[in-house]
Amino acid sequence: MRFTDSPVIDLQIGDTHLSIEQDNASMHVGTSVWPCSLVLAKFVERWLLLSPSASPNPYSSSLLLFPNKRAVELGAGCGPAGMALSLLGLSNITLTDIAPVMPALKRNLKRNRPALQRNLKTAVLYWNNHKQLEALGAPFDFVIAADVVYLEDGVPHLVSAMEALVAPSGVVLLGYQLRSPEAHQLFWELAERVFSVEKVPHEHLHPDYAYEETDVYILRKK
Ligand SMILES: C[S@@+](CC[C@H](N)C(=O)[O-])C[C@H]1O[C@@H](n2cnc3c(N)ncnc32)[C@H](O)[C@@H]1O
Repeated sequence: MRFTDSPVIDLQIGDTHLSIEQDNASMHVGTSVWPCSLVLAKFVERWLLLSPSASPNPYSSSLLLFPNKRAVELGAGCGPAGMALSLLGLSNITLTDIAPVMPALKRNLKRNRPALQRNLKTAVLYWNNHKQLEALGAPFDFVIAADVVYLEDGVPHLVSAMEALVAPSGVVLLGYQLRSPEAHQLFWELAERVFSVEKVPHEHLHPDYAYEETDVYILRKK
């Protein structure tokens, strides 16, 4: 499904339907659902739910070992990626965003409480706020982020937050779309200083959620 004006987005993960309410009229981008989060969630679902007897799974050895792992999502917005990954076994996840987006995030967590069968943790996090970063209690095995690279000014803080939060052996899972050439250039310049970058081949994305302009990256500390 592409980004849509529909007030409610349906996201099926396994047999479970998440129903995510969005408000495109708000002044905060986080109150909308962005395609990167759906692409990221469905990529993980595709490889995690693959039967072991099916074709070889390039992500089985380390990336998709979710049980008992700690995760944090940056710029969670309405929460589609974090909720989906929680359903897929990444249950110890904290969804973060700026304060004005919290009501939309919390509303969606409450709306999906029966499907999630648990209360997911949330925290206000501005990427440049060291106290908030510290309070999260790094290191995390997984840092999740979808469609968070669009403002050049925020990029250095974003990369620093990723670096501070992810464990030395951890993984940043990034749903990515080019939104601003300046932010794009700076993000990859800074990210490549800290992380080795693996781009998921497009044919590894979920076939129903593989848009030409959207990518998934796996970042690991160098
Ligand atoms: C385009 S939205 C993506 C939302 C969600 N991940 C999705 O894909 O539907 C970008 C998100 O990053 C958050 N964000 C932007 N700058 C931020 C900052 N400096 N600190 C924390 N969050 C930030 C926004 O509030 C917003 O929720």
